[in-house]
Amino acid sequence: MERQGSVFPGAAIAAILSVLVMGAAATNGEQETVDPGKLLVLTAATEETEGYQRFLRTAKYFNYTVKTLGLGEDWKGGDVARTVGGGQKVRWLKAEMKKYANDEDLVVMFVDSYDVILAGNPMELLWKFLRFKSKLIFSAESFCWPEWSLAEKYPPVAVGKRFLNSGGFIGYAPTIHRIVQLWKYKDDDDDQLFYTRIYLDAALREKHGIALDHKSRIFQNLNGAIDEVVLKFEQTQVRARNVAYDTLPVVIHGNGPTKLQLNYLGNYIPNAWTYEGGCEVCDEGLLDLSGLEDESYPRVLLGVFIEQPTPFLPQFLHRLLSLDYPYSQLRLFIHNREVYHEPHIQAEWEHLRGSFDRIKLVGPEEELSEGEARDMGMDLCRQDPTCDYYFSLDADVVVMNAEILQILIQENKKVIAPMMSRHGKLWSNFWGALSPDEYYARSEDYVELVQGKRIGVWNVPYISQAYLLRGETLRRQLPQRSVFTLDDTDPDMAFCKSVREKGIFLHISNRDEFGRLLSTARFNISRLHPELWQISENPLDWQDKYIHENYSRVLEGENYEQPCPDVYWFPVFTDQMCDDLVEEAEHFGQWSGGRHEDTRLAGGYENVPTVDIHMNQIGFEKEWLQFLQDYIAPVTEKLYPGYYTKARAIMNFMVRYRPDEQPSLRPHHDSSTFTINVALNHKGIDYEGGGCRFIRYNCKVESPRKGWTLLHPGRLTHYHEGLPTTSGTRYIMVSFVDP
Ligand SMILES: *[C@@H]1O[C@H](CO)[C@@H](O)[C@H](O)[C@H]1NC(C)=O
Ligand SMILES: *[C@@H]1O[C@H](CO)[C@@H](O)[C@H](O)[C@H]1NC(C)=O
Ligand SMILES: *[C@@H]1O[C@H](CO)[C@@H](O)[C@H](O)[C@H]1NC(C)=O
Repeated sequence: MERQGSVFPGAAIAAILSVLVMGAAATNGEQETVDPGKLLVLTAATEETEGYQRFLRTAKYFNYTVKTLGLGEDWKGGDVARTVGGGQKVRWLKAEMKKYANDEDLVVMFVDSYDVILAGNPMELLWKFLRFKSKLIFSAESFCWPEWSLAEKYPPVAVGKRFLNSGGFIGYAPTIHRIVQLWKYKDDDDDQLFYTRIYLDAALREKHGIALDHKSRIFQNLNGAIDEVVLKFEQTQVRARNVAYDTLPVVIHGNGPTKLQLNYLGNYIPNAWTYEGGCEVCDEGLLDLSGLEDESYPRVLLGVFIEQPTPFLPQFLHRLLSLDYPYSQLRLFIHNREVYHEPHIQAEWEHLRGSFDRIKLVGPEEELSEGEARDMGMDLCRQDPTCDYYFSLDADVVVMNAEILQILIQENKKVIAPMMSRHGKLWSNFWGALSPDEYYARSEDYVELVQGKRIGVWNVPYISQAYLLRGETLRRQLPQRSVFTLDDTDPDMAFCKSVREKGIFLHISNRDEFGRLLSTARFNISRLHPELWQISENPLDWQDKYIHENYSRVLEGENYEQPCPDVYWFPVFTDQMCDDLVEEAEHFGQWSGGRHEDTRLAGGYENVPTVDIHMNQIGFEKEWLQFLQDYIAPVTEKLYPGYYTKARAIMNFMVRYRPDEQPSLRPHHDSSTFTINVALNHKGIDYEGGGCRFIRYNCKVESPRKGWTLLHPGRLTHYHEGLPTTSGTRYIMVSFVDP
């Protein structure tokens, strides 16, 4: 049966390959020509999982010829993730190999598929195989499985992995054929044990010419070797490099508990993302929604979760109305756990009801836990055969891209999240890796992904806050209702784990800008207008709500006035800011009496007293100083070139003028380098009179504008007075900057 006798069986292939690969003339005298492409990859898969598709994509990239065994059949090979099994694969292989029993020139590689990617081309594979000078090579790993007791029967190895893993092997077709003919066991008996026994039988090992790939020249099993394997970025391709043995394996196998590491490697290898081409697979298999009639758009159930006091919720709810998607196809489920937010929902309710096709609200009185509520929302889609997608959206997500739904649907994944992070922070809605106890761990590429330095669609272990799932995936692969309420874990972690355990990939896309995440940690709802305090935590949302829409034009040198010499006037606050600030002060209510004695001051004496409240009295000084820093300092530097302010201020206060209280302020200098004076309400509506006169220039600003500030030098040249308020109440906010 050894047709080639003592001749090394692959000599012919080797000869040709040595020409092709080494570029050197063949030294071997054999003339027999063998097609170096005479390589067949066999794999096993009962379902076309995403892992299987990933495998096929890598095979296609290298032009491997692949044949899949078992597609569409029921898996009877046991739960190989947890116990032994896999015998069914050998049965299939046994049947298949009969076809190639006598094909001496055919090299067959058998590999798993769900957790395998290919990293090198067929030529390289064959060449490496021939260099082993054996007839059948199994992959090797550092664990002896499933029978640990067999470990000592293994031939010792000086360097390299000692034990056989049957997830990958390559050999001459007749050899493999002869070996698998020995299989006469059950489908759920262990395939690895079967091959191990053959290998450990010295006579059989010899007879069949079996060896192990101890140093991962061809096969890299990741289990027990994660730290040995790093990405190697080449010009147009990415490989895995084994740094322990300095090899470039061709087959990467995420055996055992290393699926997530394989997913990470698979985000790059061989060309999923390269430095040259970026994401080279992102445009494959997209769905096209363009040109669809409204009623042909997929139906989406939007599940909104308000699980904690969340700043800027009214804006969030309002944004739900401006999605670029046919609302006839959108349904809305809202879970609100916070009584505090009920008025906000109330305020938007009619609009929401008028827009969405259907709408359901579950309020705090239902006392659902977060996990129960998330299960409920998802189940609404699962149970409704017309629900094509479920989009889960937490209230701390600021969606800035109205096309978010279409974009995510077009990515055509079972599960995909839009990548978002907190403004200017690395805090995002995905994890690149898990720690051994399944909490957060940072992947090597995490920062690049969050900062958009690498763009693509990434397979990650954890997503949260916003994600789209196919309804069909829910119904077929996640049929049970409890997805978020497993064990005692955090609902999002439970969800991700449920999905991962079904072999479904969790994707995150940073191909588009989608929006950002809010910080909810320091949102103190015992305040009257707690969002005023969000200037540092959520600066962009604070700005949207509180800073005048034309403020930024001032920085471009437009949109300001100079009513008196060196007195500048420009918009800074929204009406909302003015109103909220006044309400906070009135809510606090402890206005000073306008007397010279003032215990709030270091000296205890105020030369030019007003009826006022200091920002430190309402706990707003830190935030106010931040405002000066962020919004006033840049304008000062623009309008008074060469002066760089530190934006320090000890005196930050709101003044109240009333005819019967304190109507005006006598001429004075401010103890400041410059002063800002913001009008907080409307002349002609809220009060009459008021304004400011600069005495040296006899120049008055008599019609203060709500939300606009005066900016003027404090001392020496700008001796000024507050003009009398003749009716109503006038409020201004004043800061003496750089005293
Ligand atoms: C695969 O085959 C195609 C078409 O024959 C060819 O263009 C491509 O270069 C091949 N790819 C590799 C990696 O050999
Ligand atoms: C929350 O606000 C109240 C005033 O409304 C204040 O007394 C309290 O200290 C604040 N809590 C925190 C943690 O800042
Ligand atoms: C901002 O400026 C534009 C153009 O001058 C004006 O139409 C608009 O009313 C301004 N916005 C506010 C809030 O005043």
